Amino acid sequence: SIIRDEIYPIDGASDAQLSAIDGIAKDFDLTVEKLSEIIKHFCNEMDKGLAKSGMTVPMIPSFVTGIPTGNEVGTFLALDLGGTNLRICEINFEGKGVIKVKQQKHKVTEDLKAGPAYQLFDFIAECVDKFLSEFKEFVTVQPEGVHEKLKLGFTFSFPVEQTAINKGTLIKWTKGFTCSDAENKDVVFMLQEAMKRKNVPVIVTALVNDTVGTLLSHSYKDPNTLIGIIYGTGTNGAYFEDIHKIKKLKFSDDSKKMIINIEWGAFDSEKKVLPLTMFDNKLDRESNNPHYQIFEKMISGMYLGEITRNILLHLIDRMLLFNGYSSKDLNRQYSFETEYLSTIEADETQALDDTKKVLEELLNIPSTTLIDRQIVKRACQMVGLRAARLSSASLAAIIIHCEKVKCGSSVGIDGSLFEFYPHFSARIKKALQELFGADADKIKISLARDGSGVGAALAAMLAAQK
Ligand code: GLC
Repeated sequence: SIIRDEIYPIDGASDAQLSAIDGIAKDFDLTVEKLSEIIKHFCNEMDKGLAKSGMTVPMIPSFVTGIPTGNEVGTFLALDLGGTNLRICEINFEGKGVIKVKQQKHKVTEDLKAGPAYQLFDFIAECVDKFLSEFKEFVTVQPEGVHEKLKLGFTFSFPVEQTAINKGTLIKWTKGFTCSDAENKDVVFMLQEAMKRKNVPVIVTALVNDTVGTLLSHSYKDPNTLIGIIYGTGTNGAYFEDIHKIKKLKFSDDSKKMIINIEWGAFDSEKKVLPLTMFDNKLDRESNNPHYQIFEKMISGMYLGEITRNILLHLIDRMLLFNGYSSKDLNRQYSFETEYLSTIEADETQALDDTKKVLEELLNIPSTTLIDRQIVKRACQMVGLRAARLSSASLAAIIIHCEKVKCGSSVGIDGSLFEFYPHFSARIKKALQELFGADADKIKISLARDGSGVGAALAAMLAAQK
């Protein structure tokens, strides 16, 4: 498997092709020295964000101060609005780390992502209503016939300036959402109003980011967990911070720790240390949020295909790929899906048959040679490898910030990229070894599948206990 040093070979390419590819590869290479420079800047940005609000890396206090013990019991609802799907869950905590989940999933259409906010929230309320009517036993009817309101934890996977566990305003949409009338508004209020409009007997008692949810649910199983991460449509991380280090926070109770939602997708939006290529800059300029989420745009599932598409178009325009022919499909923005990258990186057939299928059948390129396909595979490799190595940088920065290099800690990770992209976690581990040597083995990375919904329910429960 290709991690870093093995470079996917291209046999019989012309000198012009080889020199173009090598030039691009150089721009995508991330040495351990460069990684260290990025990590240093990341640590500084974390400190800045903890000291003052409105910084590039916002370091958002989550108001989640309890740490689950694994002994919690109870039934809660959770709602998870991510980048691609909406999930509704009923979560049963049975103690001893045992959790039972019933869930329904709905796709969030492009129209909903771009329409007025009330339509998105009405859609969410309708989905909850449908869920409740399909799992009727869950709605408890009291003697006098009044429905008891169900407590719901809401995972909202966007940057929110929180002011309480159940209050927070959307700072800015990310991941392609552009709904009007939502930025600077309280998302719990918007959701609760939609529930009222649709007569759904639910009360929203906790609002959490998906990273916070992932961290909480992983802690329920492994109390040594320090960090929760998403590598999916977007990317971000959360960790337990000592409350006295959150200088900007005016908050006092007896708690010692609070989860911080880093919102690291925004890291280095000033473009100071990240090794941006012309392909990244083109993607950023053409996106619906130029100059925002620069780190995320180099790493997450929403963008990796688009970076690759930009590389391919560049080579086509120079007559170095597909004999200079593109296709209508390949010319369309975001048509090269990150799933295609996964398929191509996983393609180990001699003639690159799976790659051929993607290019000729899904993207309708008229015909491809083996050399073309090898070049495409090499491009995918560069993009995927860089994403994984950059991912290791933010993870390493938290470990350093929390002074856990020597003792290590557990990290719960969710997201399609982490779960399905070939070599992604192996490449992260390799980069961590380059950075920390043998200490890297003390960082326990594991998949925390669908943790964010469970985490929201846990947050609702911890809030109810207070
Ligand atoms: C984007 C969102 C962030 C979320 C991440 C992963 O970066 O801004 O809130 O955690 O995607 O879904």
